Amino acid sequence: MTGEQERREQELTDRVVASFENTPGNPRLKYLMETLVKHVHAFVREVRLTKHEWNAWIDFLTRAGHITDDRRQEVVLMSDILGISMQTIAVNNEAYKDATEATAFGPFFVNDAPLIENGGDISGGAPGEPSWIEGSVRDTEGRPIPIARIEVWEADDEGLYDVQHDDGRVYGRAHLFSDNDGNYSFWGLTPTPYPIPSDGPVEQLLEAVGRSTYRAAHLHFMVSAEGYRTLVTHIFVDGDPQLDRGDSVFGVKDSLIKKFTHHEADEATPNGRALPEGQTWSHVRFDIVLAPGDD
Ligand code: BEZ
Ligand code: FE
Repeated sequence: MTGEQERREQELTDRVVASFENTPGNPRLKYLMETLVKHVHAFVREVRLTKHEWNAWIDFLTRAGHITDDRRQEVVLMSDILGISMQTIAVNNEAYKDATEATAFGPFFVNDAPLIENGGDISGGAPGEPSWIEGSVRDTEGRPIPIARIEVWEADDEGLYDVQHDDGRVYGRAHLFSDNDGNYSFWGLTPTPYPIPSDGPVEQLLEAVGRSTYRAAHLHFMVSAEGYRTLVTHIFVDGDPQLDRGDSVFGVKDSLIKKFTHHEADEATPNGRALPEGQTWSHVRFDIVLAPGDD
């Protein structure tokens, strides 16, 4: 590239950056816009973006916008599969002692999920293998956190959340509270891997680059207590083959992969629950550590 070409390209970048100089009363917005322009211009210049590629990008964004509605968020999905969501989570959940790692929130959380007692069942009749999930909620000094609010949600054994059905059913979700000793327990389902929505441009992009469209099997948690940073996380299933193929949204962290121990149908369940004849079940322990914080 000639020096003159380089000068022209740099002059344009500088002029666009300078256009935010007089952003009134919002230095953060000014900083975000200037930095965004610098990075995006650097990308365009580095890859020598063709007009055809620019058109493909615009077409992708347009299709993502058109398919997005109240129940379907393709733009967030785009952020997810590019690792932008997980990088934002990393930046906002700074490592603190042995506090449990955070991961993706995902699109399937619902407010006002049913309240259950410790030892209760979140499955609400959703099909799948029962799983006994138990653990403690503690601070980073090892002290129990009583009455922490624990929201849990997961897909059924076909990989579908209740909200993906059109009939208003509520299953595979609930909230409960840790007891006075900071312990909790509930019945859920052994998680199953499932694909991200497959009828939009994001899935087409994943196919085009030969990436998996599946999420590794997981169970979602959101844990909150006054004086602590709210933890949004999942647990993953040790041995799930999808862990090796790659989680489409980069949500997996080694510390969140847990052993779901398999139990035969004739083994007694932890709280004496009688399962249907021939029903196997699993068991997992997830001890949660909350970082201090004010949200
Ligand atoms: C999920 O965890 O359910 C999810 C997260 C990101 C994209 C799609 C699904
Ligand atoms: Fe999920």
